[in-house]
Amino acid sequence: MKRFFKRKPLSLLHEEMKGENRLRRVLGPWSLTSLGIGCIIGAGIFVITGYAAAYKAGPALLVSFIVAGLACVFAALCYAEFAALAPVAGSAYTYAYATLGELAAWIIGWDLVLEYTVASASVAHGWSKYFQNFLGLLGLKVPGLVSAAPFDFDPSHGTFLATGSWFDLPALVIVAVLVIVLVVGIKESSRFNNAMVAVKLSVVLLVIGAGMFFVKAANWHPFAPFGWTGLSLFGQTVLGQAGPDGAPVGVMAGAAMIFFAYIGFDSVSTHAEEARNPQRDVPVGIIASLVICTVLYIAVTAVLTGMVPYNQIDVDAPVAAAFAHVGLPWVQFIVSLGAVVGITSVMLVLMLSQPRVLLAMARDGLLPPRFFAAVHPRFRTPWKSTILTGIMVGSMAALIPLGVLAELVNIGTLFAFVIVCSAIIVMRYLHPEAERPFRCPWVPLVPLLGIGFCLLLMFSLPPANWLRLAVWMLAGMLIYLFYGRQHSKLHSK
Ligand code: ALA
Repeated sequence: MKRFFKRKPLSLLHEEMKGENRLRRVLGPWSLTSLGIGCIIGAGIFVITGYAAAYKAGPALLVSFIVAGLACVFAALCYAEFAALAPVAGSAYTYAYATLGELAAWIIGWDLVLEYTVASASVAHGWSKYFQNFLGLLGLKVPGLVSAAPFDFDPSHGTFLATGSWFDLPALVIVAVLVIVLVVGIKESSRFNNAMVAVKLSVVLLVIGAGMFFVKAANWHPFAPFGWTGLSLFGQTVLGQAGPDGAPVGVMAGAAMIFFAYIGFDSVSTHAEEARNPQRDVPVGIIASLVICTVLYIAVTAVLTGMVPYNQIDVDAPVAAAFAHVGLPWVQFIVSLGAVVGITSVMLVLMLSQPRVLLAMARDGLLPPRFFAAVHPRFRTPWKSTILTGIMVGSMAALIPLGVLAELVNIGTLFAFVIVCSAIIVMRYLHPEAERPFRCPWVPLVPLLGIGFCLLLMFSLPPANWLRLAVWMLAGMLIYLFYGRQHSKLHSK
């Protein structure tokens, strides 16, 4: 049992950072913030907002965004303290190893796979929808047989439907292109990301600037047609109503769903090893990117639900379609293009983060190091695990529908946030003396609020997600018991 709770000493983490086979330190505060924004603004705001407004919260989705944003702000402050304290690749996995022990670290590392790989796959779907929407504006069409996952979820009946398609070809192609960029280098990836972030921020500002002239206050009535709550506890709706599929609806249920839109600020912490001055710049990158995106999200949601009655919002490409609805096709064109570019950067950063977490786990012996810790001799990137990540993302994106993937990602990420918030409290207790270049304010209040908000959102998700999370974790436990436990480097020391 003792093995499961063995912690990685902070001194060892600091020692390891000086070793060979490290990643290149090239990222400054702007690039880190841009990576954060690159990863945050994407399918969440451009795609899922439509579904969440139409089926979960109505115009009150605005409040859902505030609730989910608060959960993220509390978690972000905890991430920022850790990232400054232990600026190595691995993010929450490394933090858990130093505080809660090996088993918790493995669980969280495995959970981050859920966050990054499965999120990339869901985002790839959003990309494909907007890309096809954009091609449609040019009068082009992807053949139906290769335009979507073979099945989809129908929220109005709560059932799965065959789409008539075999697989999602555009999603597969974009994943392949990104893998090439990622293998070639962090600098190239970061430059590519900076350019895409500039385009998507301009488009988001255009949406707010042009859209506000078409807002009709009447569209905000009723403001919360699905109620203000929407909370379930392991399958039982305890507060609010349930939708046709039995899942909770209301502001909290909306928050749990659009939490997806905020995922990504934590990915900044996975790049700590590539930051030039991680102790200062990583906290800046995490907090700045989150605050900027929160403000933009609230504004976009207000505009979108003010432009189109909530029950008429298009669920495939809601933001672009809203401009067609008010007779501005040129804005629809620009928004579609911007969304395609913006969502590309989310995939890029998520797929950049995943191999870095795997790398940290492999360096500790919990995954086969020859494969997962291999750094390319010329490009200095974890190339083998990048390609493997690409294969996993590509297959999921091609075959499994967005709705199923996105909620699974949410529960996994919320779980990671709960662990990081808890680990901050434990770390303050274990190492009160450690130098903390960034300190989360009001500990333990802020981490406790983070834990409370994240748990609330987890309970607001449809119950099937708890089951999926449990199955995922069980698979992870088997890998740990049969591989990680035997090969852990900490045990052989
Ligand atoms: N936050 C990211 C998005 O919305 C995952 O696409």
